[in-house]
Amino acid sequence: MIIAVVSQKGGVGKSALSRFLAVEFAKSGWSVKIADLDTGQGSSTNWKARRDQNAIKPEVPVEKYATVSRAVQDAERYELMILDGPAFAEKRGLQMAEYADLVVIPTSYSLDDLQPQVETAQHLEVAGIDPEKIKFIFCKADGSDTEEASARSYLKRAGMNVLKNLMPERASIRHASNNGQSASEVPHRTVRERIIPLAVEIANIIIPKIPDIEEPQVHTTIEPTRETACATH
Ligand SMILES: Nc1ncnc2c1ncn2[C@@H]1O[C@H](COP(=O)(O)OP(=O)(O)OP(=O)(O)O)[C@@H](O)[C@H]1O
Ligand SMILES: [Mg+2]
Repeated sequence: MIIAVVSQKGGVGKSALSRFLAVEFAKSGWSVKIADLDTGQGSSTNWKARRDQNAIKPEVPVEKYATVSRAVQDAERYELMILDGPAFAEKRGLQMAEYADLVVIPTSYSLDDLQPQVETAQHLEVAGIDPEKIKFIFCKADGSDTEEASARSYLKRAGMNVLKNLMPERASIRHASNNGQSASEVPHRTVRERIIPLAVEIANIIIPKIPDIEEPQVHTTIEPTRETACATH
């Protein structure tokens, strides 16, 4: 399975989302790797170094790849490869999306993010990417319920799918990242409880895409939610 985290916009939370998903799936027994395609910045690679320095488990392999095709070749060795993409890379984003089973596009509630991110999705769709494969995720989400509702309605009007669960913006998530931890490894239970359902929702999207899954070949303790359980059984 390949999840591509794609965005034209910088700083929207691609790397934080990639690490969170990698940690949660790894905790559930999947073999996971993050392909750090932002070779200039290498922020996930640096995060991995901090994680190793602090001996945080589970171990999550992260490697820089100069090309998408190299990362995709390596993906065969893992149950899940997460492509953590660079910003401002239209061509590379399309390549990532072509290979991916699921394309996720992070956005905040701000029109400054929503507009370019919708353009990213439209560009992918025009280039032939199945719109069903593209899901928006609210990341660094900070605002009232009204703001969330208005952002959801904006995406709906643009014909985009957005996940029910989100990653809130929290200082504790930044601090966790500084220590080589993911958003789900913060000390605050309320933050963890808010964010872990996002991994469950994504598991419920990708598990049915695993070929020949009559008898699940991948063990996961990411429990389906009651609402989405029917999608996997
Ligand atoms: N949920 C969050 N709460 C608080 N801070 C966050 C959250 N997610 C990300 N950040 C912080 O926001 C900044 C940008 O996040 P991140 O590096 O994940 O974005 P990105 O889209 O990968 O950026 P780039 O385009 O530079 O690769 C970082 O400083 C990160 O620590
Ligand atoms: Mg990044």
